[in-house]
Amino acid sequence: MSKRHAPATLRNRDAILAVLQRIAPQDGVLLEIASGTGEHAAYMASNLPGPLRWQPSDGDADALSSIDAHAAGNPRILPALLVDVTARKWPIDRAAAMFCANMIHIAPWQASEGLFAGAGRVLTSGAPLVLYGPFKRDGAHTAPSNEAFDASLRSRDPSWGVRCLDSEIAPLAKRHGLVLGEIVPMPANNLSVIFRRR
Ligand SMILES: C[S@@+](CC[C@H](N)C(=O)[O-])C[C@H]1O[C@@H](n2cnc3c(N)ncnc32)[C@H](O)[C@@H]1O
Repeated sequence: MSKRHAPATLRNRDAILAVLQRIAPQDGVLLEIASGTGEHAAYMASNLPGPLRWQPSDGDADALSSIDAHAAGNPRILPALLVDVTARKWPIDRAAAMFCANMIHIAPWQASEGLFAGAGRVLTSGAPLVLYGPFKRDGAHTAPSNEAFDASLRSRDPSWGVRCLDSEIAPLAKRHGLVLGEIVPMPANNLSVIFRRR
C-alpha cells in the first residue's frame, strides 16, 4: 500500500480541524467524501475526541489504498469505501456527520448534485455537512487568486469550476433538505461551510 501526498493538506489541516472540533459529533460515524490521499482522514481522526469513527471514501478506486495506508494503526478510521457521489445508492446508509474538501469545483456539477442528494439520504436529522474549498459569493469571485484558479480549472475541463455558494450551492442544499448554517473564513480565500440536515 503506497501513501500518496497532497501538500495542500498540510497547509489547511489545522484550520479545518478547528472547525471539526467544534462541529463534529462525539459519537457515530463521520463520512468523508473524496478523501483523496487520505491525509485529512488520518490527521482529523487522530485529533478529534472519541468514540467518533471516521469513514473515508473516494470515487476513484485507485485512491483507496493510499487512504488505508495513511489510516493504518488508527482503529477509529474505517476501511476506505468506494463512494461515487453521483451514484443513486451509496454503500453506507447512515452518518452522524459528513465532510468534503476540495471536490465540488474539481468535478462536474453532477458531483455537487450527487453530494447533496446523498447527504439528504444518509445524514440523520440535525447532522452537519462540512464543505471546504473556494466559493464565489453572490456570483462573484472573492479574490483574484480564486478567479485565476477558476479559469485554470475550466481550461482543464469546462465542466469544472468554482461554485457560487449563494446562487448554486445553498439552493441545491435546500432542495435536498439541508440548511445553510455557519460560514467560516479559512486561510487562502477558502471557506468552511456548515450545512445541517433538517
Ligand atoms: C482535489 S482532490 C481533493 C482530495 C481531498 N479531499 C483533499 O482536500 O486533499 C478531489 C477528489 O475528489 C474525488 N472525486 C471526484 N469526483 C468524485 C465523485 N463523483 N465521487 C467521489 N469522489 C470524487 C477525486 O477522486 C479526488 O480524490
